[in-house]
Amino acid sequence: MSTDADLTSQAKSILRRNTRGEYTVPTNGLYPFQWNWDSMFVALGWAEFDEEMAWTEIEKLFDAQWASGMVPHIVFWTEESSYFPGPDVWSTGRVPPTSGISQPPVAASVVRRIADSQPDRAARLLPHLERWHRWWYEFRGVRELGVATITHPWESGRDNLPDWDLPLSVVDASGVGRYERRDTDLVDASMRPHDHEYDRYLALVQFGVANEWSDKECANSPFRVADPAITAILLRAETDLAFLIDAAGVDYEHLDSTCMTSAPISDRIKRLQDGYEQFWSTDASAYCSFDPRTGNHALAGTSASLLAPYAGIDSRLSEVVALLQRWRGQTGFVVPSFEPAAAEFEADRYWRGPIWLVVNYVIAEGLASCDAVDSAEMIRQSSLDLVRTSGFYESFNPLDGAGVGGADFSWTAAIWLRWINSPYVGRT
Ligand code: DGY
Repeated sequence: MSTDADLTSQAKSILRRNTRGEYTVPTNGLYPFQWNWDSMFVALGWAEFDEEMAWTEIEKLFDAQWASGMVPHIVFWTEESSYFPGPDVWSTGRVPPTSGISQPPVAASVVRRIADSQPDRAARLLPHLERWHRWWYEFRGVRELGVATITHPWESGRDNLPDWDLPLSVVDASGVGRYERRDTDLVDASMRPHDHEYDRYLALVQFGVANEWSDKECANSPFRVADPAITAILLRAETDLAFLIDAAGVDYEHLDSTCMTSAPISDRIKRLQDGYEQFWSTDASAYCSFDPRTGNHALAGTSASLLAPYAGIDSRLSEVVALLQRWRGQTGFVVPSFEPAAAEFEADRYWRGPIWLVVNYVIAEGLASCDAVDSAEMIRQSSLDLVRTSGFYESFNPLDGAGVGGADFSWTAAIWLRWINSPYVGRT
């Protein structure tokens, strides 16, 4: 049985082994490139023992930012055959090659956490963060709806969540053609999305290619869903960016003269704060994603239903805590990615049930910042116990705590390092 000290040294070795110089892969083989939100959570882990690497990791991601402000979800810094779909399929024509969609914008919040260590480097990132947030505002629904929308399940980072089943079912995949998945060579197929989902994931990539990845056209993707997780993460990131701009004493008006005309940060924050209540579903008694074309909410809660406090929204704190308590009674460990009482719940299948420590981290940060410290602490302890039980897996079965997906996973190691040293930072 490993001690916590052994696990801490294992976590550091995982990050060292998974680094490729200036960035860290999520895990060897299954995900051999730089992934956007993985990389930012991993920077939090690096910051616990190698601050230089934490900053390098963040800066490297922004080296791949598009002129529009979009920060891609994958950066293909090298050629690797163990992953599909690679840069040839995405065909974005960028240097470095990248995917054509984004991922949850956690970067500004991570920069805020470590800014005191190197304020100059934090200040240099501000225009990049500002441009990325404006891109979400303009091209992912915030200006129009007051909430963030996704154009591909991969953009949510929660690929096969049951929420996406219905909106994905209308995507025409008849022209996708033949292809070979690589993920199921490396991980048991029962832990991964089905082929019919992959067909549609690829059809949506082909839609982007056909539209030459134009932001305007892609915003109208055949798959468009308003996501409470991205919205909460963006709202928190906007607040953290506003704090950083203030702390750096930068004149906001001159932060980035190359930006398109867009709303100032205070307006963007207000728009998101006012919009968040649209996620509330009285049927599910939870914050749920919705289809902006029909207004219909998803039918059940997900781990994203617990993220409003992370965005500073505590008007329904008691309902959020009650949902967490109910789940705690139904599963041995928390937080399951999907409602455990629903028919679509699958304890081992990727985002249809398993627990993800990075999501636990943001949920607990949010609860702690709204003074629900007991709930936050319950999540932290459950997360540390999962690693003690099974090691540094990609995710965990919420019923028995067994590891799910890839092993030696960077972001799980990073959250262990962050949480074993200190609990939450809360709202500062
Ligand atoms: C994958 O390939 O499974 C990723 O989650 C896509 O980003």
